[in-house]
Amino acid sequence: MGRRASSARPWAASSAGRTLLLFLLLPLLLPGCSAEAKRYEPTWASLDARELPAWFDEAKFGIFIHWGVYTVPSFGSEWFWWYWRGLKLPKFVDFMNANYPPGFTYEEFAPEFKGTFFNASEWADIFVSSGAKYIVLTTKHHEGFNLWKSNNSWNWNSVDRGPRRDIVKEIEVAIRSKTKLHFGLYYSLFEWFNPLFLEDQANFFQTRYYPPSKSLPDLYDLVNTYKPEILWADGDGNAPDTYWNSTGFLAWLYNDSPVRDTVVTNDRWGLNNICKHGGFYTCADRYNPGHLLPHKWENCLTIDKQSWSYRRNAPLSDYLTIEEIVEQLMQTVSCGGNFLMNISPTKDGIISPIYEERLRQIGSWMQVNGESIYGSKPWRAQNDTITPRVWYTSKPKENLVYAMFLQWPSSRILVLGQPVATFGATEVKLLGYEHPLKWTSLPNHGIVVELPQLTLDELPCKWGWSLKMKNIK
Ligand SMILES: *[C@@H]1O[C@H](CO)[C@@H](O)[C@H](O)[C@H]1NC(C)=O
Ligand SMILES: *[C@@H]1O[C@H](CO)[C@@H](O)[C@H](O)[C@H]1NC(C)=O
Ligand SMILES: *[C@@H]1O[C@H](CO)[C@@H](O)[C@H](O)[C@H]1NC(C)=O
Ligand SMILES: *[C@@H]1O[C@H](CO)[C@@H](O)[C@H](O)[C@H]1NC(C)=O
Repeated sequence: MGRRASSARPWAASSAGRTLLLFLLLPLLLPGCSAEAKRYEPTWASLDARELPAWFDEAKFGIFIHWGVYTVPSFGSEWFWWYWRGLKLPKFVDFMNANYPPGFTYEEFAPEFKGTFFNASEWADIFVSSGAKYIVLTTKHHEGFNLWKSNNSWNWNSVDRGPRRDIVKEIEVAIRSKTKLHFGLYYSLFEWFNPLFLEDQANFFQTRYYPPSKSLPDLYDLVNTYKPEILWADGDGNAPDTYWNSTGFLAWLYNDSPVRDTVVTNDRWGLNNICKHGGFYTCADRYNPGHLLPHKWENCLTIDKQSWSYRRNAPLSDYLTIEEIVEQLMQTVSCGGNFLMNISPTKDGIISPIYEERLRQIGSWMQVNGESIYGSKPWRAQNDTITPRVWYTSKPKENLVYAMFLQWPSSRILVLGQPVATFGATEVKLLGYEHPLKWTSLPNHGIVVELPQLTLDELPCKWGWSLKMKNIK
């Protein structure tokens, strides 16, 4: 914490001494004036040196929520408006010609974005059941529609149009009152069709009409009003961070904002910043390098492989299976990443049964295997060298190594090339199964573990399992 001065000073006996002492300590006692608080400069060198608040690495697993006007056409992806009006892709133009009257505008979708059955409390229950430790909600995507009313959202927001509700507020209240999840917000810097942005773009970003009149006031408002613990920026619109004044904003966020001690940010704050500057790295959508990265990173991926937004016509085969999700989670965490899994509710505010099922499935897996994920650290090896699809994590303080595996060998013999066991010291268990397992060492390096003989009903979980190994080298 480090911001509060200690008040116990037994040597300050006399009242005159106490007065003098109080006078000297006053700047330390006033919040925001602490001499100990580190100040950040509006430069990447200074901002990048900020340590990520520890909660984020410990959390490992979050849920990304894409909700906006694009869930009305619910066709193609959240890029619908751009593909239709910007690129004029035939698939989108034809869709509009076939289903809407001539002259229909994207703005006319907004009244249909009603959220008829939206209940933030029900969403919160589903998120808790998934085992996620944080959420990230899109407060505004590239279409520019705010899910709250800011002073600069005119009538293009969810309070004036569509649901006529402050969606960000309702979700914040549900998350904070019912759950222990951390509350994160996504914000797209640019907007495809905002006239001020388009004018700056035409001027090669030598003018700055848009940021001071839209993106920056919105960002300050989001932080001051909803106090997010993650600020997930996106959509630099090919403009440099100097155009967005990202370093100025982040210096305020880290120094003076109400969330300065807990907030984490990502790396999408301007052209070419991705994977280079900011808080944790996202590098690309669905980024999963398969090897350890020296910098904290996050794999944001979609359950619907084609889209971040709900598609009415998505076939089942376009959704990741629970087996694929479990494998992605293992790979990501063993390589030092966090796993941000995206869902998208319908225009009615329903989390469709397929998304709900995936969330509850991963939650049931976490119930058994969570200890190999939450609060873990990467180990010296990320995957095994003998058996494929085995991923490692560790808890160094407790001398624990976890081997997560995706195939239950028919021989019940799991051969691992990486762990070095010590006779009399090493203990191997299967998470969700109480008895210690038999093992033998391979010559030089490696361990052979005998898995218990279990019927399908007796297996602690499906889709993947975790060995917990104590005292491994
Ligand atoms: C929202 O869902 C909760 C259950 O989590 C329920 O208790 C509440 O009545 C619902 N609210 C409305 C308006 O339906
Ligand atoms: C919005 O505008 C009103 C009226 O000018 C002002 O009182 C309020 O402080 C503004 N809110 C924010 C967050 O800037
Ligand atoms: C950038 O942000 C900082 C911090 O809020 C502010 O002091 C500065 O005036 C801003 N610069 C521009 C060019 O907007
Ligand atoms: C370990 O994972 C990497 C990246 O996914 C892969 O290329 C490599 O083949 C794996 N090693 C083994 C032995 O499976």
